[in-house]
Amino acid sequence: MAEILKAPRGTADILPPQTSKWVYVEEAMRRFASRFGYEEVRTPIFENSELFMRSIGEATDIVTKEMYTFTDKGGRSNTLRPEMTASVIRAFLEHQLASQSLLKWFYIGPGFRYERPQSGRFRQFHQLGVEAIGSENPALDAEVISLALELFRALGLKNLEVKVNSIGCEQCRPAYREKLRDYFRAHLTELCEDCRTHRFEKNPLRILDCKVESCRQILSKAPTAVDHLCAKCAEHFRKLKHWLDQLGLVYTLDPFLVRGLEYYTRTVFEVISKELGAQNTLCGGGRYDNLVELLGGPPTPAVGFAAGIERIILVMENLHVEFPEHKVDLYVVALGERAEEYLLPVMTRLRRFGLHVRGDYNLRGIGAQLKEADRFGARWSLLMGENEMSKKMAALRNMQTREQIEIPMDHLEQEIVAKLLSGSAKESVS
Ligand code: HAM
Repeated sequence: MAEILKAPRGTADILPPQTSKWVYVEEAMRRFASRFGYEEVRTPIFENSELFMRSIGEATDIVTKEMYTFTDKGGRSNTLRPEMTASVIRAFLEHQLASQSLLKWFYIGPGFRYERPQSGRFRQFHQLGVEAIGSENPALDAEVISLALELFRALGLKNLEVKVNSIGCEQCRPAYREKLRDYFRAHLTELCEDCRTHRFEKNPLRILDCKVESCRQILSKAPTAVDHLCAKCAEHFRKLKHWLDQLGLVYTLDPFLVRGLEYYTRTVFEVISKELGAQNTLCGGGRYDNLVELLGGPPTPAVGFAAGIERIILVMENLHVEFPEHKVDLYVVALGERAEEYLLPVMTRLRRFGLHVRGDYNLRGIGAQLKEADRFGARWSLLMGENEMSKKMAALRNMQTREQIEIPMDHLEQEIVAKLLSGSAKESVS
């Protein structure tokens, strides 16, 4: 026998009934994003590698270690998208939408990073997120954060921690960067290899994002960005906090929150869940006022977030949140050749009324079929056995009460539809 191949490490098949959880989360996202005025965009799964190198930053882990980059047959370097913000801004510029006052887009789809797989961390993962392009108003930052939280609340997520910080702009950051470099210079030998050799020179802010314990100890006493903001950034941050307070959002200020991507300016935030293990960040985002310009467009401020769908579902499962089930309304049990003649036509006609109908094409015995009907959570079954068929009848059985009524074959649909779409059966077909 041929060897059975496995999906690549760090990827996962999403199979029923798990798929319905995904659809549930995605539909909630579509509903909430639309409520907040966002429209859906879909960009390619791969882009020119340069896009991510220019936007995410050459000193980041994503660009230095995690990109799935390949040369195509035409000799071009392509990369599977490690995130969506860069692609969204590329599309925004390519389609010349910069003249619109405020563009609000959302997306749902896969991203790819060559990371060490573990619980909540995959090589192919899925994000849902938004990007609001064209305003620097901090009320928009607050709205973006509140959209994420409203969505999470509707999905039943609890005990979330919102961390907020401001990392300043091109005006105030160079001086802060120097301050940081001075501080870390005194601790250079204690820093990890990556921080010492790459991050210190290229961008010492990246050291603040290092997960190595020895570095974390040193950075806990480092100068903070919020203490070095220019007047405009300080005012922006003050207003953001004002709006978050106005919305009644509870958050903590984390002066060392910098995020793993370099395009951020001013606001950065993360939503953390205690239900997740080491990979506890459910959602991350912030403002990136220079990215549009960096990618060749006019100065255009923007803000957004992305959340990992795998992580959202993991938290929901850990909290035992109930997912709605798609129950079968009617299971058609056909027994014998005469009944088989009716199986497909009857199911097809009933489905036209919006009923969820299943049957058994393997024509097993009645016991096996009714067991399967129960497994699908069928509320009703329709028994077409030799006995009933000889009387031109079929039996409609309530799977909960086991009560059964006989109905004539020539009024089958009318009777079933009347029965199932009335009273208690109504909700099952809504
Ligand atoms: P990020 O923090 O890299 O930000 O990713 C956002 C979220 O995607 C994470 O909090 C996590 O839930 C999920 N995620 C990322 N990598 C993985 C992985 N390997 N496995 C499972 N889940 C993962 C961004 O991607 C930015 N583009 C967010 C943003 C949008 N900022 C502004 N607009």
